[in-house]
Amino acid sequence: MQFEFINSRSAVAFVESPFSKNFHDRLSTTIEQNLTPKSIEESFPRTDWEFIVKNQSPECIEFRDWISNVFYEVMPVERLSGVPAWEASSYMGQIKLVKCWGSVYNKENYAENHNHLPFTHSFVYYLKVPEESSPLEMEGTTFFVRENLCIFFPAHINHSVPPNKSDGRVIIAGNFNWILS
Ligand SMILES: [Fe+2]
Repeated sequence: MQFEFINSRSAVAFVESPFSKNFHDRLSTTIEQNLTPKSIEESFPRTDWEFIVKNQSPECIEFRDWISNVFYEVMPVERLSGVPAWEASSYMGQIKLVKCWGSVYNKENYAENHNHLPFTHSFVYYLKVPEESSPLEMEGTTFFVRENLCIFFPAHINHSVPPNKSDGRVIIAGNFNWILS
């Protein structure tokens, strides 16, 4: 696990997953078989926003278990959460993965500058990164990405993906939020 500041207040966290190529292949296939028809006409094809939260395939269950457990390790770090560590950890059990989807970037697909408000924390995980895949741009910093990498970031951070130069860059992204009781 590694942290990097991207401005004076916020850091992003980089975590490597233990998943095998075979696991990535299965998860990518599941995503590619569940792209929403409408999204294919948007800037890039994706599944429903909650697809990986709800899907009961073994690979989706394993992925969301892993991402939630890793998030609970990363999130109490004050510089990522923006709230004091002691306070964050006392609320930790109430922060949940509420949206999680898969996206495919083929040639020329891109993502305009955007953020994930009103959620608190977000991540992007790289399943397939063929040669000439686009990096991730975040507030003037370029992150070159690789398979098995997960980047957690505060949801308010603006980011974008420049036009992709090859087919089949597959990612999973998601949002965490407070669940009020
Ligand atoms: Fe995003």
